[in-house]
Amino acid sequence: MAQKLDLADLQGNILRAYGRQGFPKARYLFLHIADETAGRAFVETLRPRITTAVRWQSKANYPGEVIVDRPKVAINIGFTFYGLLALGLPTTTLRGLPPEFIDGMGARADILGDLGPDGDHKWDPIWENNKIGDGHVHALITLNAQMNPDGTPVEDLEAVTRWLQDECAKLGNKVRIVAGHGLDGKGLWQDASALLEPDSTGALQPTAKEHFGFTDGFGDPVFDGQYSGEMEDLRAIGGGAINPDQTWRPLATGEFLLGYPDEAQEIPGESLPFDFSRNGTFMAYRKLHQNVKSFADYIRDSAAVYAKAMNVPQDEAEQTLMAKIAGRWADGVPLMAAPTFADWKAFQAKEQAQEKLEKVGHHKRQENSLERQLVDFKYASDPDGVKCPLSSHLRRVNPRDMLDPTFRPGQPGTWSGSVLNNRRRILRRGLPYGPMKLEQGQNDNGEHGIVFLAVCSSLFRQFEFVQQQWIQYGLDFNSGNDTCPLIGNHGKGAKFVIPSSVESGEPPFIAANIPQLVEVRGGDYFFIPSMTALRMIGMGIVDPT
Ligand code: HEM
Repeated sequence: MAQKLDLADLQGNILRAYGRQGFPKARYLFLHIADETAGRAFVETLRPRITTAVRWQSKANYPGEVIVDRPKVAINIGFTFYGLLALGLPTTTLRGLPPEFIDGMGARADILGDLGPDGDHKWDPIWENNKIGDGHVHALITLNAQMNPDGTPVEDLEAVTRWLQDECAKLGNKVRIVAGHGLDGKGLWQDASALLEPDSTGALQPTAKEHFGFTDGFGDPVFDGQYSGEMEDLRAIGGGAINPDQTWRPLATGEFLLGYPDEAQEIPGESLPFDFSRNGTFMAYRKLHQNVKSFADYIRDSAAVYAKAMNVPQDEAEQTLMAKIAGRWADGVPLMAAPTFADWKAFQAKEQAQEKLEKVGHHKRQENSLERQLVDFKYASDPDGVKCPLSSHLRRVNPRDMLDPTFRPGQPGTWSGSVLNNRRRILRRGLPYGPMKLEQGQNDNGEHGIVFLAVCSSLFRQFEFVQQQWIQYGLDFNSGNDTCPLIGNHGKGAKFVIPSSVESGEPPFIAANIPQLVEVRGGDYFFIPSMTALRMIGMGIVDPT
């Protein structure tokens, strides 16, 4: 670890994926600031309660490390460009902000593929009305809460929400919560929650599942300074950048935090003063609806064709089709570790055996452990996508070494690692929303999906590039106009090719006529300031001279 970060200056949601760290419940509140002085007063009131990145008690703490108590509710804040304008930031500071952030997500809808052929879209009213005027979204407050044993959020979530409402009222509602979420469009905020499942005692436990039935949250970039001590090198395996010698290293800090060298070894141009930008970053908030019935129907029907073509049972065909679309089996085992259904079953058997060993204390985590295989894989050994299809969700959103410009299959020493991909990484920080599958009776029309939060230092270079070039096009994946089979726009006749090996003599399988599986319900871009910048904003002392 070369970089030592000032954790007390960073907001905690940049380094931590709260959902996986004991905060399975979330609430996202959006604010409109009608008055500069009131806005600053609100920021000043909130500032002492913001959750920073200072570490909590954990097994990974090193001796002497500063630690603070884990809160019941983690609180963080971000601002849109118009929010910063409403707070009275100087023009010199505002004009240094990146164009895509100034535009906001709504204005970038066509670039992102968020509009249908006639400009049609189904955004929640809050995002429909997100234009200059009373409904303009200026700030996002994220609340991530711990959970009661019955699966409800801890009472503190309501208490913090009431406190925020009271603070708005005290300011004569010159800072107010913008409503307009959900099916009836009246929700005051957006709630989210990990999907819950009962354990052996019947108690509800948070899972890493999303609504289609995949286990999510394995892949997350690791950057220099993010973890302390040895943990960083360990986490960089599978999460960091790939060196030409095929080892892993943490990505450059500047890919995720402003004010540090990035993968191009440059400190990108920033908004002045330097202390305003440094330790801040950007976040894309996107509400993504999932058509769970369409997904289940499609998998069932296409699997029937696959089963016949490949001469395998329906269940195997369904599981295989799901895995080929995502790049991982439903439980998260990557296709690169277990390319066939039989390999997957063997992997699961090993996991069960390991669990038993762990219970009696015989198992030691080894170099080639199963845990490591869940994240430590590359695509060089699979140039044609026979194991993991080139067009699968996983290969598109993090191609790892696949787009290596010098790599020639079968010629060791031609590798240059993951250079092209290193500048396109995003930290994912969201959670699912809406009731669990069983409760919603497998209907498309309910209120369920993912609140997708992408954190990166350049929304344009990282989030937007992945969304536009890799999800909504197929050229980098030798897939022509095919979009991502899981989350891309699926116009009439959308298809997904599952390659077969040349040696097998089998034709590829073409999954045809994929319906629209994911629909955007709206969102926006937010600047996540450092604690120093928050103080400057709150006190009105952003001085770019
Ligand atoms: C409803 C929408 C989505 C669903 C259901 C979904 C599902 C999944 C699943 C099942 C995985 C595999 C688990 C893992 O590797 O962590 C995954 C990984 C990932 N997804 Fe998505 N995803 C969605 C939206 C998006 C969007 C919009 C983006 C980017 C703009 C994205 C980027 C990623 C990334 C970067 C990974 C990790 C890949 C890796 O590191 O190998 N996903 N997603």
